[in-house]
Amino acid sequence: MTKPSCTAVILAAGKGTRMKSTLPKVLHKIGGKAMVQHVLDAATDAGATLNIVVIGFGADEVQQALAGQAEFVVQQEQLGTGHAVLQAVPLLTAESKTVMVLCGDTPLLTHELLSKLLAAHEEQVAQATVLTATMPDATGYGRVVRDETGQVLKIVEQKDASQDELAIKEVNTGIYCFDQQVLLSTLRELTCDNAQGEYYLTDVISILVKGGMKVAAVSAEDYQETLGINSRSQLAEAELILRRRKLKELMDQGVTIMDVNSTFIDESVTIGTDTVIYPFTWIEGNTKIGSHCEIGPNSRIQNSQIASGVIFHFSYAHEVVIEENVIVGPYVHLRPNTHLSSGVKVGNFVEVKNSMIGKGSKLPHLSYIGDTDMGERVNIGSGTITVNYDGVHKHRTTIEDDAFIGCNANLVAPVVVERGAYVAAGSTITKNVPAQALGVARARQNNLAGWVDRIKNK
Ligand code: UD1
Ligand code: CA
Repeated sequence: MTKPSCTAVILAAGKGTRMKSTLPKVLHKIGGKAMVQHVLDAATDAGATLNIVVIGFGADEVQQALAGQAEFVVQQEQLGTGHAVLQAVPLLTAESKTVMVLCGDTPLLTHELLSKLLAAHEEQVAQATVLTATMPDATGYGRVVRDETGQVLKIVEQKDASQDELAIKEVNTGIYCFDQQVLLSTLRELTCDNAQGEYYLTDVISILVKGGMKVAAVSAEDYQETLGINSRSQLAEAELILRRRKLKELMDQGVTIMDVNSTFIDESVTIGTDTVIYPFTWIEGNTKIGSHCEIGPNSRIQNSQIASGVIFHFSYAHEVVIEENVIVGPYVHLRPNTHLSSGVKVGNFVEVKNSMIGKGSKLPHLSYIGDTDMGERVNIGSGTITVNYDGVHKHRTTIEDDAFIGCNANLVAPVVVERGAYVAAGSTITKNVPAQALGVARARQNNLAGWVDRIKNK
């Protein structure tokens, strides 16, 4: 059997008043990714061949965040979820018989759960199938009212519910599959005769039941997947759940996480087997880490590629490439466009920016290396600075293979220290140093004999 497909309509026009934010609710991030992006990804992976996103509050921002991944329709006034779906009608095509409606604020969804909903909807040949969940605390959700045979009768919003209905723990997750034609005709029957004066999408269910249509329900086994985020507290709860999910996945793949409470790894990150992640570590964005690495403690890595056997501790790296068996840290800042070749060692208060560092080179202490092309087996003495900025332009420094830079040297760019050359400690190098030469650029030492006695006896 071919995998069923559908059109997804994602509701994302609301302001998210309860977030108390200027940012549209659906753009708040969890696991480093906007909530609505999580929903869109799950829908696409579950078989949605067309995604329509209903936008309103912060429309431009939401559209920009999802550009190229969906069609957009603007809901000028947020008159309710039913009204929101109605706005998407002109964009529906004949291609999919089934329309899956989702809310942009349920970021923990998995595509497996959505596939299950879609499959059940097709198998039961229902006109509508609602995804439900049993919540330990159902506050704020619409409750699912069933008859004694278990048939869904209606969904009642919290604000419209009776005491008996409020006691129901089975809630509407806000995710449904509908037969497109049936949905279109029913949407037009909605009224705003309720506590919030809104056109509720949920009323479609009772209208269909009354009209003798087949309404089915699928219950999510794990209610956490369907949590809706309305407040910052719920955002933090969801973040924790997503984080634990990612850490478990990594541990199942053979990564050691020493302290799950203080390790933060984005969903998009991949890590190889037998790598150990020490506490208080953030690994974010498009980061790939190889196997047998030691990462952390107290480290942050963003959008970087790290090969196997790397030791990275007490340091921060963003947009860098690190080859195998490199040692970074403690207290290193690696800035964008830095490439550390295999066997490099960078440690103890060193900053490297926009530089290529060749195999086996060592930058062990207190240096700033910026806009530099460094060869192999170079030794950088403590306190070496590449003087890359003249106040107007940035210039590059070249340090060729086997060069040896003495402590506290300034290399004033543009400048080249050629193959095997030495630079004397304390030099300010402004001219190229030829291969195998010693560059010295400092005042000669002059010792004044008996000077101390003379000034003391004045
Ligand atoms: C909704 C459901 C409720 C369900 C819950 C699940 C209705 C009436 N209620 O309630 O049964 O338990 O979701 O999380 O559907 N939106 C628009 N335009 C609007 C109104 C809302 O696009 O005019 C969007 C919001 O941006 C949001 C989603 O629809 O992404 C849900 O809206 P929200 O206000 O959070 O609904 P709930 O009160 O949570
Ligand atoms: Ca909600």
